[in-house]
Amino acid sequence: MKIEPDSIILSGEGSLQRQLYQALRQPLLSGLWPSGALLPSSRVLASELGLSRNTVNAALAQLVAEGYLQGQPGRGYCIITQLPDHFFQAHGFQAHAFQDSHRFSTSNNKQTVANTSIPIQPATPHKTGLLEPGVPDLAAFPYRIWQRLLQRHADRPKLGVGSDVLGYLPLRQALSLYLQQSRQVHCNEQQILITAGAQQGLYVAAMLVAARGDQVLMESPGYGRLRQALQLQDLQIEYLDASGAEGISAEALTNYHDCKALFLTPGHQYPMGGIMPLPQRLAILQWARQQGCWLVEDDYDSEFQFKHRPIASLQGLAQGEGVIFVGSFSKTMQPALRLGYLVAPVALIRRAAEIVQAIHGDVPLLTQAALADFISEGHFSRHLRKMRKLYQHKQQLAQQLAAQYLPDWRLSAMHAGLHLVLLCPETMLPDFDGPRLLQQLAAQGYAPAPLSKYQFNGEQQAGLVIGIANLSHAELERGLQLIAAFQHSS
Ligand SMILES: Cc1ncc(COP(=O)(O)O)c(C=O)c1O
Repeated sequence: MKIEPDSIILSGEGSLQRQLYQALRQPLLSGLWPSGALLPSSRVLASELGLSRNTVNAALAQLVAEGYLQGQPGRGYCIITQLPDHFFQAHGFQAHAFQDSHRFSTSNNKQTVANTSIPIQPATPHKTGLLEPGVPDLAAFPYRIWQRLLQRHADRPKLGVGSDVLGYLPLRQALSLYLQQSRQVHCNEQQILITAGAQQGLYVAAMLVAARGDQVLMESPGYGRLRQALQLQDLQIEYLDASGAEGISAEALTNYHDCKALFLTPGHQYPMGGIMPLPQRLAILQWARQQGCWLVEDDYDSEFQFKHRPIASLQGLAQGEGVIFVGSFSKTMQPALRLGYLVAPVALIRRAAEIVQAIHGDVPLLTQAALADFISEGHFSRHLRKMRKLYQHKQQLAQQLAAQYLPDWRLSAMHAGLHLVLLCPETMLPDFDGPRLLQQLAAQGYAPAPLSKYQFNGEQQAGLVIGIANLSHAELERGLQLIAAFQHSS
């Protein structure tokens, strides 16, 4: 089958590249165009739709990167994904039954203090370690603009008292547009809850869909503080191997039958960097639908993809059904702002607001108001574009330096994000003394994270997760030299 150019209709809203991307993606998702169908050539598309070849090629390249199309030499672009007919018929999802009595039962014994083994991060006022993962380039933040926006709202009496527990409405409106356009999230402002960072979003998501003793799944290697949030709620955690280039595999899921939620980072697996291709996403969505298992998509840094534009969200692919989407402003803005968001189906969002009201109350309004303007006045998109280029450059530099100083170490998480994973060479493994290396690095102001901190399933791979965003070329080079010197001395 050949797709006729006439059947491709641009919406007239947003950039031309985005309009074409949407116009091609929509019929694909709705199953209108079958697998194997051929698109018109980029030359025909450009002339029929009155677009430049660059615009057309960029939209096609994004759809190739997301796994919808395949370029075939001499034939053009062919559709390679067919969605199952029942794909959009969501069923089987239930919010957790909150009346569960065991959940709220209190002990009638003598008072006790819960015994947890969750470590608390030591206070490091106003200072981050070099190579510390997760920290954006703080010097590149547009402080002047931010200050101006804060000042604009600082003397508004209305912001002096709390408001909607879901969050400041203009921020939710601006965010909803941004998420629809940039992450293809299926939402409106009534489905968004502004949280104190993605961390709170993950905690609330777990409370929404699971209760004490329930089984939930998360990735390993994975995000330690998610694990803490799940442990704190006494959930039974099972770990899925996420070390491959595509994140967790749908096959591994067939071993699980009674899970309330699967927490995952499909846009950019944390920390190993896998980017989940479309067939894998579809298989996971299908499994989750069959099982009635919620997916909690942690989209903590997907804005920073370097090979192509960010891959569209899993939530959008599911048309918002059965997926709770959690995001953060820690990487795109600053971690200390403590701003994030949770997007949930309407049926859950009221309960999410109740939870936040009970555990925290709403997020400070002044920063929400400044951020709303920052996004709606275009500063956010500009900042993201600038930072994407900067981080891409820093990633390349880090990889070059790693090749120079640590040639026998393997690298992972190279195509996106603010960190890089350095995997220790096999030959070094028997003698690798991770704690001593970390100690030596700390003495010089460096604070990379050991890979073991992210491994919960008994994995043996030794390595380091290094932040590449918040340090200079010279500091990065020196950090890698220190690691190399340790390797050669041991
Ligand atoms: C994978 C992942 N999820 C969630 C978070 C939490 O982000 P926030 O700072 O918004 O709480 C982080 C922070 O580093 C992260 O790396």
